Amino acid sequence: MENKKLVVANLKMYLSTSDIATYLKKIAPLERQNVIFCPTSIYLPYFVGHGYGVGIQNVAATELGAYTGEVSAIQAAGLGVQYAILGHSERRQYFGETNAQIHQKIIQCLRAKMTPIVCIGETAEEYQKQQTKEVLKQQIIACFRDLPAEAISKVIIAYEPIWAIGTGKIPRNEEITEIASEIKHIVVEKFHCHMIPVLYGGSIKCSNIEQLENIKNIDGYLIGKASTTEEFFRLLEVVYYK
Ligand code: PGA
Repeated sequence: MENKKLVVANLKMYLSTSDIATYLKKIAPLERQNVIFCPTSIYLPYFVGHGYGVGIQNVAATELGAYTGEVSAIQAAGLGVQYAILGHSERRQYFGETNAQIHQKIIQCLRAKMTPIVCIGETAEEYQKQQTKEVLKQQIIACFRDLPAEAISKVIIAYEPIWAIGTGKIPRNEEITEIASEIKHIVVEKFHCHMIPVLYGGSIKCSNIEQLENIKNIDGYLIGKASTTEEFFRLLEVVYYK
């Protein structure tokens, strides 16, 4: 049976304008509806309308108005963008994004009929102190606060341990399995919602994708650096055709 896993390519701010032209040519033959490309905002129009999913890497916490430099969910949705990565740890770390802002951004996305991909994850210190589950629970509760089950059922969660992003380190399969099940359980228990998709992200590469594919309870992957290189096509081969 066809693998329905979602693969989200978070291109971050890696590619220059000329790199993007080359990249678009390389991904043109892909017909996979389950692959979602998330380029830098200014390149979004180049990605829309080609059969694959398209996501923005962040949206404003407000709708339209005097917010210089921001891009609202309603503007992105108007271009045909269907997904938004929210609360990525780089946004939290470098731009001071809070769970309260992420909460507002989720609302903006849902109003614009976009699917939020909400990133959560623990620091290395929290991982070492075995606080992961508690930290994730707090992030989920703060981000989803007061949202009805019907709204939360449209959200995707990406579990990205901060210590795994761009470091080459990943948790053991048993750890990811346990955390994915805990995340799904928290959402069901606290928000009376059905189980929502949970992706894993952080240092996914050809050298670990086969191992990750043995995990039964994750619904896909959020891939950063490797999605900007040739490695990405080999990763897709493993996920969809192996
Ligand atoms: P990485 O990033 O794959 O480069 O570790 C993942 C992410 O930050 O989404």
